[in-house]
Amino acid sequence: MPDTNPPTVVIKIGGSTLGADDTSLADVVALSQEARRPVLVHGGGPEITSWMKKLGLRAEFVRGLRVTDAPGLDVASAVLAGLINKRLVAGLLAEGGRAVGLSGADGAMLRGRVTDASLGLVAGSVEVDVGPLEALMGPGYIPVVAPLAVDESEGHRLLNVNADTVAGALAAALGATHLVFLTDVDGVLDDGRLLGHLPVARAEALISSGIVKGGMIPKVQACIDARMAGVEPHIINATVPHALVACVNGASPGTTVV
Ligand SMILES: Nc1ncnc2c1ncn2[C@@H]1O[C@H](COP(=O)(O)OP(=O)(O)OP(=O)(O)O)[C@@H](O)[C@H]1O
Ligand SMILES: [Mg+2]
Repeated sequence: MPDTNPPTVVIKIGGSTLGADDTSLADVVALSQEARRPVLVHGGGPEITSWMKKLGLRAEFVRGLRVTDAPGLDVASAVLAGLINKRLVAGLLAEGGRAVGLSGADGAMLRGRVTDASLGLVAGSVEVDVGPLEALMGPGYIPVVAPLAVDESEGHRLLNVNADTVAGALAAALGATHLVFLTDVDGVLDDGRLLGHLPVARAEALISSGIVKGGMIPKVQACIDARMAGVEPHIINATVPHALVACVNGASPGTTVV
């Protein structure tokens, strides 16, 4: 049977620009009104670090990646699935959208296991059941996904997951047309120059050579995986007005992995 659903677009909003007074949420709602099915995935690094400090917990990083111990996971779960997720839901409602927030644990939508013990309670990759998302998108809700997973092999305990990894996995599983990363830079930069069209092989080389580093690594890796899965991947600046709508409608305001 042909798929008669409107095309799905997966958007990841970075903790780096969350709460900024930009057009990102208005654009997500506009897409839902333009016969697209947006799915919003969010990060929340800076907010998690700030709540850990308030609670007297120290944020620890290994090779630029957050180490998540049991108290850290409690804070990450509360901040991601509670505070940030519900603020985004409220923000989308305020723009006239019909948003419902959930985490990857809900309906066991995201399943993973610890892949690198030095990072603690983190799933390095996830398996996706798109059922909960389809159930929401069918009647027209915009799902807002907090990046948590469950580990079935350990009694369904919660695990933290990088939000970029989640966005990439959801885009592939949903057969999305576009995967768009909204972040705080114009796209992938080399020596300050924006790389507009970035072939997969060059993207891989930029990671190996260290030109792509830190928080840009999981984004570029997710873009490479998405391209292989037939999804069009973009990294754009969230602070450029209406960059998201422009991007989904065919402009290339940032980096497109080709
Ligand atoms: N080659 C590169 N080009 C552009 N940015 C890069 C590059 N290498 C590393 N970066 C860094 O990646 C950052 C974006 O990733 P970061 O993880 O900080 O943001 P985010 O994913 O949008 O937010 P969050 O992780 O809080 O959800 C940029 O601000 C920049 O400092
Ligand atoms: Mg990041």
